Amino acid sequence: MYEQVSHSLLNDILDELKPEIRKRDLRHFYTRLGANFYVIHSLFERLYGHRSDFKQQTIRLVEAMARQYIAREDDLKQKDIERERDHNWFLSQQWVGMALYSNGFADNLQGIQQHLGYFQELGVNLVHIMPVMQCPEGNSDGGYAVSDFRQVDDRAGNLQDLNTLSDEMRQRDLLLVLDVVVNHTSNEHEWAQRARVGETKYQDYYYSFESRHVPDMFEQSMPEIFPETSPGNFTWDEGMGRWVMTVFNDYQWDLNYTNPAVFIEMMDILLFWANQGADILRLDAVAFLWKKMGSTCQNEREAHLILQLMKDCCQVTAPGVLFIAEAIVAPVEVIKYFGEDAVIAKECEIAYNATFMALLWDAVATKNACLLNQGIKSLPVKLERATWLNYVRCHDDIGLGFDDRDIQLAGYQPQQHRKFLIDYYTGAFDDSHARGLPFGRNEKTGDARISGSLASLAGLQYAMESGDAQAQQEAVNTILLLHSMILSFGGIPLLYYGDEIGTINDRSYLEDSHKANDSRWVHRPTINWDRAELRNQPGSVEYEIFSALKKMISVRKEIDVFADFNNRELIDSGNPHLFVFRRYSLTNERNNILVVANFDGKPQRMELDEVMPGSHWDQSGLIDLYSGRSPECFKNSLVVPPLKFYWLRDNG
Ligand code: GLC
Ligand code: GLC
Repeated sequence: MYEQVSHSLLNDILDELKPEIRKRDLRHFYTRLGANFYVIHSLFERLYGHRSDFKQQTIRLVEAMARQYIAREDDLKQKDIERERDHNWFLSQQWVGMALYSNGFADNLQGIQQHLGYFQELGVNLVHIMPVMQCPEGNSDGGYAVSDFRQVDDRAGNLQDLNTLSDEMRQRDLLLVLDVVVNHTSNEHEWAQRARVGETKYQDYYYSFESRHVPDMFEQSMPEIFPETSPGNFTWDEGMGRWVMTVFNDYQWDLNYTNPAVFIEMMDILLFWANQGADILRLDAVAFLWKKMGSTCQNEREAHLILQLMKDCCQVTAPGVLFIAEAIVAPVEVIKYFGEDAVIAKECEIAYNATFMALLWDAVATKNACLLNQGIKSLPVKLERATWLNYVRCHDDIGLGFDDRDIQLAGYQPQQHRKFLIDYYTGAFDDSHARGLPFGRNEKTGDARISGSLASLAGLQYAMESGDAQAQQEAVNTILLLHSMILSFGGIPLLYYGDEIGTINDRSYLEDSHKANDSRWVHRPTINWDRAELRNQPGSVEYEIFSALKKMISVRKEIDVFADFNNRELIDSGNPHLFVFRRYSLTNERNNILVVANFDGKPQRMELDEVMPGSHWDQSGLIDLYSGRSPECFKNSLVVPPLKFYWLRDNG
């Protein structure tokens, strides 16, 4: 179909482009712009078409895209073309990620560069460096309160360091993931400062109100994200004499996306970081991008339109660059961040699988997989050409974000069950070896989330403090079991720095007044590189975890059905302690892997012929690819040792 309106607008825009843009050879840019412009125009019009300056804003958007295309280095443009040809590249099982803070993993960006060999030793080839943009000294929310979107924070280094690092990573085939905090800025950002002194242009970048009436109206339906440290969603700004919308901390001002100037600024910033060599951009807090009175102000339809528009614009300038959606929301909502269609209404190629993460922690606490099975059964099938980021821990808290209905179907009472989990992980439950801390307790709703490092939550800290050798083995097994899940489920596994050597809670944050009341800092460690050396010393915990993970990663990379083409089938084993699924090939039905995980402290069995009636699975030919050995069986009963997993292939 021929779309006259957008085509004639595009022709006008091309005529009006600044001469310095018009003169350049922009062949690829124009091809892509032509292909995407109908969608870009439609989305931009739905969001901003009512404005009298709509056409000027559209020209500014196209100019920003063209300028960033001109600024894009040739080798990045080459990568774009390669990835257009091989557009499923990121679904491969070859990718294994790690997330880290530049100043926690090493001193700064240069320090990361010196440790690149560490990633390669482990098999990690995708590195998410958490926010490196400039932020205030104290009120920074770990980098998520940005005061300058185009500078690297002094503490991490400078733009030159980042460019050098990204060049070297590219040479080593390591992918770089960078954060762009699209939902808010620090109150020290220039836009906020100028809003404060009364510049209406910049007041329009945020949501601010003279009286409490509108804020009070919003508060009736908005939840609180940080109820303890930053209750409510608005903050009185003395300088401006107005209430500002601050959904997260009181120093994080929410951006006003009803203003097209904000969209264009942020689009330009996304492309700016794409041009610094980021392969993937992690878009922070995307569920919050659109505010609507009477709603929770999360997952609004327009938030999705904004993301689709960002994706379409990015595909014109930097098509090789992918987006990760950080949307820690209910399963039915998360799935929408992939978009509605892989071609015409695409949003983010990758999304955090917070559902799976929280369900795994449920299985550890309950020692069974009832809710895990139920929750995964209800997880909607995602779009093709989209993949999960599967993780066990990250820099944030663990929210118990599963569905109440699933909790009931698994046989628990939702409120009691959530309370049990919080108690279990925060040490209020006698039998638990977990050493977590509560986060975001909300007295009004009774909600709470959980902080704590993987090792401390899995019982390693308890075992070391009490000198209990058996507890130590169980903790190590739990850590490995959880990783075996994110490495086989389908998606990109994202390890969290320090977990690969069993790093326990770090309470030093309590001495810093800017951190003391945010327990998430307990699991944001500074790597002790002397201790990390112990990974080479057999018998040490560091060795046990690191060497097992290293092996698991290298085995994963060899298993082609671990690539993510929605090729997973959940299997009901009849045994509540087991979580079982099959990864299969779309082209060869004999190419299957059966993943079996036992969350219990006792061995568990599974009847192979009942689980897979009529299939060719038979114990005599089974091999566990991780250990390289046959699994334990008696007749047709497969026996899974306590807290162990199998990646089974039938070689018969
Ligand atoms: C994201 C970050 C989190 C931060 C929040 C506000 O969720 O992961 O650390 O507190 O955004 O920026
Ligand atoms: C909420 C938000 C998430 C953020 C987290 C920080 O869960 O949905 O985006 O990472 O809070 O604690």
